[in-house]
Amino acid sequence: MCCHACIQYYNNYEHDKVITQLVYIYKQSIRMSQKRALPSYITSQHNIDGILNPKFISADPEHIEKVNNFPLRPDDTFVTCYPKSGTHWLMKIVLLIVNNGDDQYVQRAPQLFNDYQWFEAAGMPGYPGLDKIHDLPSPRLFFGHQYYSRLPGGPPNTTQARYIYCARNPKDVAVSFYHHSLKRSGINVECDLSWDEFLDHFLRGEVSFGSWWEHIPKWWAHRDEPNVLFLKYEDMKKDLPISIKTISDFLGYNIDQDTLQKIAQATTIESMKVNSVAWSEKQFLRKGVVGDWKNHFTPAQSEAMDKVYCKVVEGTGLEFEFN
Ligand code: A3P
Repeated sequence: MCCHACIQYYNNYEHDKVITQLVYIYKQSIRMSQKRALPSYITSQHNIDGILNPKFISADPEHIEKVNNFPLRPDDTFVTCYPKSGTHWLMKIVLLIVNNGDDQYVQRAPQLFNDYQWFEAAGMPGYPGLDKIHDLPSPRLFFGHQYYSRLPGGPPNTTQARYIYCARNPKDVAVSFYHHSLKRSGINVECDLSWDEFLDHFLRGEVSFGSWWEHIPKWWAHRDEPNVLFLKYEDMKKDLPISIKTISDFLGYNIDQDTLQKIAQATTIESMKVNSVAWSEKQFLRKGVVGDWKNHFTPAQSEAMDKVYCKVVEGTGLEFEFN
């Protein structure tokens, strides 16, 4: 029973029957929604302001409010990417630049809590709280997967901190994300989806940390702000030394040619795999190539994503290499 007109019609007929019908329809709809039970992938995460987040991310409104108002310094640096776009690669590059290629940083992967702070998880069990982050000496390094408008301390055009953002083509991101979600099944997010199902979720933007289709265009729209550096994974793969130079110039570090080559050598996927033997986060290093999507997408899936992609990038000037 859907509208006033229907009610009126039934009023002339028999009021009780209308009520019985309404109750029946209501019960049917409940039964149908119960049949469409949500996958664990969704129920093992929580929804924070419309964005799906693993449970180790704080949903406490008081904490979120404090993060939103966190005081930043001009020499704070954020490495922030949509998941599976090279976040940990960029973290390692920035860590080496800031430490002038120091060997101890070549040998290890960026350490959370020591080298980088993660606001979304701050204060959760095992993660330092905001007070500790507040008191850290400069230069402080932060990382995360935040939307442009949801950054700690406010969006970049309201702060003096520096933001390095790396974007990657959505087909490779989806594949990388699926593999990662499977591996992380023991840590809060239970991925009970097949590849086909995961891809449907990805196309709808129903994956951890939000929608590729909203995240990337929002950052892209702000790419020319002086404290924002927008990079692409595919460009970094093509010419790593040039990307490292771009990043160090942006951060104001004048590294010499030898150091630059050393950093480039230390941050290839091969070197990072060798140096991350003792790294519990080895899961962030998989193939590290452009075009792995071709091993996973069917032609129909590729076409479906092309449609969404074209709609999203149309008129924005944003484009990616897929091969
Ligand atoms: P694949 O799963 O496609 O291999 P994030 O750090 O944002 O989670 O991104 C992880 C992705 O970046 C993984 O992609 C990983 O292999 C890739 N990656 C990590 N280090 C890399 C490097 N040095 N060079 C190229 N890709 C790298």
